[in-house]
Amino acid sequence: MKITVVGAGNVGATVAQRLVDRELANEVVLTDVVEGLPQGKGLDMLESTPVLGSDVKVAGANNYDATANSDIIVITAGIARKPGMSRDDLLATNAGVLKSVTEQVAPRSPKSIIIVVSNPLDVMVYVALKVSGFDRKRVIGMAGVLDTARFRTFIASELNVSVEDVQAFVLGGHGDSMVPLVRYTSVAGIPLTELLPADKIEAMVKRTRQGGAEIVGLLKTGSAYYAPSASVVQMVEAITKDKKRILPCSVYLQGEYGMKDVVIGVPVKLGKNGVEQVMEIKLTDSEKTELNKSAEDVKVNIGKVKLS
Ligand code: LAC
Repeated sequence: MKITVVGAGNVGATVAQRLVDRELANEVVLTDVVEGLPQGKGLDMLESTPVLGSDVKVAGANNYDATANSDIIVITAGIARKPGMSRDDLLATNAGVLKSVTEQVAPRSPKSIIIVVSNPLDVMVYVALKVSGFDRKRVIGMAGVLDTARFRTFIASELNVSVEDVQAFVLGGHGDSMVPLVRYTSVAGIPLTELLPADKIEAMVKRTRQGGAEIVGLLKTGSAYYAPSASVVQMVEAITKDKKRILPCSVYLQGEYGMKDVVIGVPVKLGKNGVEQVMEIKLTDSEKTELNKSAEDVKVNIGKVKLS
C-alpha cells in the first residue's frame, strides 16, 4: 500500500504522521512545491518509526515522479482561509492548484483513489474528477466526516457522554449551508431530540456550520488540521482495510437525491474500490429543501471554474 499526500502543510503533514503512527501503509510519499519542506518533514517522520515500531517508509519530494503507482492520493494542496474569509474565497487560487496537481498525479497513478481535502471542498472534488477523468467512485472529498465529528463533539460534551456513543449525520456541501441531520442523530440509539431541547440542538447545529471558521478565528494564521487529518485517516482506513464503512463523503451525484452534475456530501459505503454505494436515505421536505439549497451553492461555484 503506497499513499501519497500532496501538500506538506499542517493538514498534509498531520495526515502523513497519522498514517505512520497507525502503520496504515507500507510507503508514504509527502510532496510539496516548497524545497526541503516535504523532505525535512518526511525524514523527521521516518526517524520516528523505530520509536513507534512502525515499518512505514516515509519520504518527501518536490517532484511527482516519486508518487508513481500510489494506491491512494490525498490532496491537501492550496491556500487556507484567513479570519473573515469564507471557503469560497479560496476558489480561484485553489482550482488552479487542484488542476495542476491532478494533471501531475493522476497519470502517474492511474488506478489510485483520490481523496480531496482542499477548499472549497466540493468544487475541488469536481475539478479533480474532471481533470483526472477517473470514475466518480475514485474521487472522494473529505468534509462530512469532519463536520460530523464536530457535531458529535458538541453533543457529547453537552450531554457529558462518550463521543463514541454519538452517531450523527451532516450532509450537503462543506460550507455555511451544510445540513446537519438532527433526525438521524442519536446517542447509543436514543434520538437526540429526546435528549435535548430544540434550542440547544439548534445552537449546536449552528456551531457545527461555523466549525471551520471558529478554528480559523482562533488560529488567525491558518485553518484546522487535527480533526481534518483524523477524518482523512478514517476514510483511508475504510479503503485500505476494505471496511465498507458508511461515512458522509463528498461525491459526484448522478441522479441520487434527484441531483446531477454536482458534488455534495452524502452517506456512502467506502471500501477497497472507493465509493462502493451512494446510500439514499429518506428526507423530509424541509431537509430536501436545505440539501437542494446547499447543492445550488456548490453549483454556482462549479460554474465559476474554468478547466481549459
Ligand atoms: C475546516 C476547513 C478545513 O472545516 O474546511 O476546518
